[in-house]
Amino acid sequence: MSQIKPTVLVTGGAGYIGSHAVLALQRSGYEVVILDNLVYGHRDIVEQVLKVELIVGDTNDRQLLDNLFSMRQIDAVMHFAAYAYVGESVSAPDKYYRNNVVGTLTLLEAMKDASINKFVFSSTCATYGVPQQVPIPEDHPQNPINPYGMTKLMVEKILSDFDHAYDFKSVWFRYFNAAGADPEGALGEDHQPETHLIPLTLFAALGKRESLSIFGTDYPTPDGTCVRDYIHVNDLATAHVLGLEYLMKGGKTDVFNLGNGNGFSVKEVIETARQVTGRDIIAVECDRRPGDPPALVGSGEKARQILGWNPQYSDLNTIISHAWQWHQKRHG
Ligand SMILES: NC(=O)c1ccc[n+]([C@@H]2O[C@H](COP(=O)([O-])OP(=O)(O)OC[C@H]3O[C@@H](n4cnc5c(N)ncnc54)[C@H](O)[C@@H]3O)[C@@H](O)[C@H]2O)c1
Repeated sequence: MSQIKPTVLVTGGAGYIGSHAVLALQRSGYEVVILDNLVYGHRDIVEQVLKVELIVGDTNDRQLLDNLFSMRQIDAVMHFAAYAYVGESVSAPDKYYRNNVVGTLTLLEAMKDASINKFVFSSTCATYGVPQQVPIPEDHPQNPINPYGMTKLMVEKILSDFDHAYDFKSVWFRYFNAAGADPEGALGEDHQPETHLIPLTLFAALGKRESLSIFGTDYPTPDGTCVRDYIHVNDLATAHVLGLEYLMKGGKTDVFNLGNGNGFSVKEVIETARQVTGRDIIAVECDRRPGDPPALVGSGEKARQILGWNPQYSDLNTIISHAWQWHQKRHG
């Protein structure tokens, strides 16, 4: 007798991390429906690579959500849809509170009214603010230093209250720096505008930009540049499937860092990219940017212990090699 596969709604599934999660869900036997407003997502990736149903729409559209939940059997929601440009969140906070907080609340209310109570949420290490210790554990104080981080913290609070009031179960993943690309080369990172270090470095390797800026060389780190924890996007995607299975088995609401527990400096990233690509990458040393903590490294121990998460690609060379394969194909 064939079993009916659970169906997962993936918001933001046409974006970078969401698309990798869709692929991981498909490989694990789930049905997937994507909801994405395509402000930053890529229709071609959904139609040509993922080949799943794409609903072009917004999490702020309550009518659309009600129609969707009444017409389709949705068993759980993975919520990637958000705006994530830290600098823009400082200059246009209303845009971020509306999209990331109000949009999420609208989605949660529609779920509640449709009796869907399993939710996997993309939170961020930006909720911690400036770390008091590294690797950062989940119970580290949360003092975000920008509106983006605050929007994610507010959603965590809403989810906690929903659990108390409505028995609404959720897993919150606080990611460190998502990086890399699908090892088979089908998917990868394509943010426009791009602000992340590894793709910017690879754009310089491809000649798409002249040089790369290193912001600050006098931090209290081994080589003076900022240290970050780069986590392969496929390892993030795997964690999401595990988080979903945990909820399906009756797991309680909980939070997990997704980090490798070791960091790499900006200079180490650039040097590794030079080795991987075999190209010249010109790096220009600049002053520090306001608001960059010297080191952000997360302990993924709790996810390993409770979810059985076992990251496969923690080596920086592998992360950059996969990203390079994708960038040459997409942007070369
Ligand atoms: N990239 C990182 O390193 C990182 C780190 C920590 C947390 N996150 C979080 O992970 C999630 C995914 O990040 P990403 O890098 O894949 O970003 P992304 O921009 O590639 O993907 C987000 C997707 O959501 C869609 N979207 C945005 N607002 C929407 C709305 N209101 N309704 C419907 N669709 C909407 C966009 O079109 C886009 O396709 C975000 O929530 C982000 O805050 C990312």
